[in-house]
Amino acid sequence: MPRYVALIPAAGSGSRMLAELPKQYAPLAGRPLLQHAVSTLCAHPLISQVFVVLSPGDRHFGACDWSACGDKLLPLYCGGETRAASVFNGLLAANNAIDGPDWVLVHDAARPCLRAADIDRLIAAVGDGDSGGLLAVPVADTLKRANADGEVLQTAPREHLWRAQTPQMFRYRVLIEALRRADIAAVTDESSAVEQTGARPLLVAGSGANLKVTYPEDLALAELILAQRECR
Ligand code: CTP
Ligand code: MG
Repeated sequence: MPRYVALIPAAGSGSRMLAELPKQYAPLAGRPLLQHAVSTLCAHPLISQVFVVLSPGDRHFGACDWSACGDKLLPLYCGGETRAASVFNGLLAANNAIDGPDWVLVHDAARPCLRAADIDRLIAAVGDGDSGGLLAVPVADTLKRANADGEVLQTAPREHLWRAQTPQMFRYRVLIEALRRADIAAVTDESSAVEQTGARPLLVAGSGANLKVTYPEDLALAELILAQRECR
C-alpha cells in the first residue's frame, strides 16, 4: 500500500512580515508558527512521516520543543533560493524514505490553521489515481483588472476560478519528475509543475480559515481562528 508523507517547506525568510525573526518562528498562540502545522500533520494517523525543509543556516528549529511529535518528524537542512527549490531539495533528500507510488502532501509552514478534517477530505477526494490534488477555495469576490495606476479596466469573470492552498498531494515519482522538468523559477506551487506534464490535479474545496500568514495582520487573524477553536 502506498504511504502518505508530509513535506513542509519552511526555509523562507518571511520578508513581507517585516520582522527580525523568520515568520515560521513568529510566536502564534503560545507556540512558534511552524509548530502548528507540524503538530497537526504529525498527529494525523494516516501520515507516517513529516519532513520539514529548513534553511541550511537555521538556528531556531533545534531550540523548539518537538517532543510531542515523536519520531515521525524529520528536519532536512536543505532549503533553496525559492519555495519550489526547497520542495525539490527536500524530495531529493528524503529519497531513501519514500517510494515512487507514495503520496507526498506538501504543506506551507505558513498555514498554521490546517485541520485534520481538511487532510481527511483531501486524501479521500484524491483517491488512488495518479493526478493528485490540492485544497482550494472558490473565488468569492468580484475581480477587477486594473492598469498600472490602479484604475479599473475590466471586471473579470470569476466563474471556475479558485484560490490554491496547501496541502497539495502528489505521488512522489510524479512530483519529483514534474519539478525536475519544470522551470523552477516559474513554479509557485506543486500543482503548476504537475499541470505542465498534462495532468489535471483535482481541486478539493477547503476552508478560508486555512489562510497563509503573509503580512503582519495575518498573524492576528490566525490567532483568532485558533483561539475560537480552543473555545469549542
Ligand atoms: N519557503 C521555503 N523556501 C524558500 C521560500 C519559501 O521553504 N526559499 C517556504 C516558506 O518558509 C513558507 C512557504 O514556503 O512556509 C510559503 O512561502 P511564503 O509564504 O512566500 O514565505 P516566505 O517566502 O518566507 O515569505 P516572503 O515571500 O514574504 O519572503
Ligand atoms: Mg515567498
